[in-house]
Amino acid sequence: MKEKLTKSEIETINLGFSFGKLLEPGMVLLLTGDLASGKTTFTKGIGKALNIKETINSPSYTIMKSYHANNQDFYHFDFYRLTEEGVDFDFEDYIHSSAITVIEWPFNVKSLLPNEYILINIEITNDNERKFTFSSVGEQYEKVINKL
Ligand SMILES: Nc1ncnc2c1ncn2[C@@H]1O[C@H](COP(=O)(O)OP(=O)(O)OP(=O)(O)O)[C@@H](O)[C@H]1O
Ligand SMILES: [Mg+2]
Repeated sequence: MKEKLTKSEIETINLGFSFGKLLEPGMVLLLTGDLASGKTTFTKGIGKALNIKETINSPSYTIMKSYHANNQDFYHFDFYRLTEEGVDFDFEDYIHSSAITVIEWPFNVKSLLPNEYILINIEITNDNERKFTFSSVGEQYEKVINKL
């Protein structure tokens, strides 16, 4: 487990960038935290690290947005408006691929989640301050967190 504090939106993007640089194909990241805690902001930083040129914004209404850069797929899911019953697409094919996958509000589809992942919880500690807690399930993910 590792904790990091950010004091602005930019610092969160930078943290996402550093974290994104450590990722390998196929990795799955679960992002939890209240509304407006910074899940999408952090994801923007990951996108930057993966060299994605498009603007990454919330996929709430579309459930998923996919990006591609440097021969790497990147999937950004947001299950805020969904329950497990509402997942009428092959979610498993997405998460068991060589893509890097970020999932906001993952526990709305709890039974569909993979066995191994990094969980990043974001806590709103102040107006502009956020506490990030990184934890891992699975050996490959533990290594990523140790490097952070
Ligand atoms: N340290 C910080 N890190 C990230 N965002 C911050 C920080 N301080 C303030 N903010 C503000 O908090 C908001 C975070 O919004 P963001 O869309 O990233 O949240 P979210 O967790 O994805 O929300 P949702 O659950 O609605 O998808 C932005 O308005 C941003 O400007
Ligand atoms: Mg969001």
